[in-house]
Amino acid sequence: MQNQTDIFDKCSGDGGYYGAQRVEDDHYFTRPIVDPIPGRLMEFEGQQRIMWSVNNYLGLAENQEIKAVAVEAAQTYGVSAPMGSRMMTGNTPHHLELERRLATFTGKEAAVLFNYGYLGVIGTITSLAGPDDTLIMDKLAHACIVDAAMMAPAQVRVFKHNSIKDLESVLQSVQRQSKGGIMVLVEGVYGMTGDLARLDEICALKQKYGFRLFVDDAHGWGVMGSQGRGVADHFGVQDQVDVYFGTFAKAFASIGGFSATTKAVRDWISYNARTQVFAKSLPMIYVKSLQKTLELVIAGDENRARMWQNSNRLKQGLRELGYFIGGGQSPICAVFAPINGEQTETVGKRLVKFLRDRGVFATAITYPVIPLGLCMFRMIPTTSHTTEDIDRTIEVFRQMRDELTMDLKMAPEDQAKISRVYGKSAA
Ligand SMILES: Cc1ncc(COP(=O)(O)O)c(C=O)c1O
Repeated sequence: MQNQTDIFDKCSGDGGYYGAQRVEDDHYFTRPIVDPIPGRLMEFEGQQRIMWSVNNYLGLAENQEIKAVAVEAAQTYGVSAPMGSRMMTGNTPHHLELERRLATFTGKEAAVLFNYGYLGVIGTITSLAGPDDTLIMDKLAHACIVDAAMMAPAQVRVFKHNSIKDLESVLQSVQRQSKGGIMVLVEGVYGMTGDLARLDEICALKQKYGFRLFVDDAHGWGVMGSQGRGVADHFGVQDQVDVYFGTFAKAFASIGGFSATTKAVRDWISYNARTQVFAKSLPMIYVKSLQKTLELVIAGDENRARMWQNSNRLKQGLRELGYFIGGGQSPICAVFAPINGEQTETVGKRLVKFLRDRGVFATAITYPVIPLGLCMFRMIPTTSHTTEDIDRTIEVFRQMRDELTMDLKMAPEDQAKISRVYGKSAA
């Protein structure tokens, strides 16, 4: 008998993620078409805008030394090499050398490369967690952690964002009910809200409950800690992190990711992570240029200092105007917009349009990426931004406040929601 419905029917309706924008063929708010040349200024709709939405923390996307290594690698190896997966014909001494350097820098025995951070998190977690095991993840964890937990054959539990009390009570209940192992999954820097996982307090629970800890430090790697070693180093607990995960898509301004751990666990992941076992190996252009990038990150204290100066200037300027800036301890500047009973998407669109029309490219973030009822601009200050870029941006936020007669006072219920995100560190 024939099926009554066509699986493609939904594609003509306005359902799915951002369905209304898809139907309208919107390219302003969703999937905006931006000229790809990276930097502090980027072209959108025929005009240069000050760019606050790319994770180029250390300005390495524009770095000429890295480009030169990539050009040389393209000339030597072409764009396809190595052909095949690491298991077959895609393993090279250069991949092994990059893994060795990553392990040394992160203070771990060994590391394994992945083609994307997203695939690396999924490959690592799904290869490690079995049916008797339990994965306990933070409520605001990135989609790749959520997807990995759903794909793994393990039990999954969630704890309130950055709540040590809630994590402990979940750990107690899992200990009572399950026979298998436990792995806690957190981000190092929460990439949307800019707050840090309380890794010192989470690690303190390890002694009592004996779980393994996986830290996806996509936004802390290269940015936080000594020489950019990341958030666990920032808290002095890198030796207690069982799997330290970094992506190259943010501060490293490239592509790929890695898990750093013990040699035995690295070997297990290398042989069992389906997202890499059954995928082509990371191309040589990236392997070679990432070796250069790693050197620059390690020697990048000046770059990091400039990024922090820029972050502090932007946060302070916007706070002085009366904007509510999230209490995160990372460089990310999270600007919360007052909602006053309106739809968050309506507020977000109005403000995004105002900012972009005045030459400031920012992106509004709403549910489900942040809690329901909030609207936020997640701004990434980078080494490349100039003082003029920052001051101009602050001036445009002033114009927005005055011309749209924004009442920047946060309603008490919105403040309560924001406090729940930032906990103790809320501004
Ligand atoms: C916390 C976190 N993990 C993983 C990823 C995915 O990394 P990639 O872009 O390298 O696939 C991201 C990117 O948004 C992220 O923010």
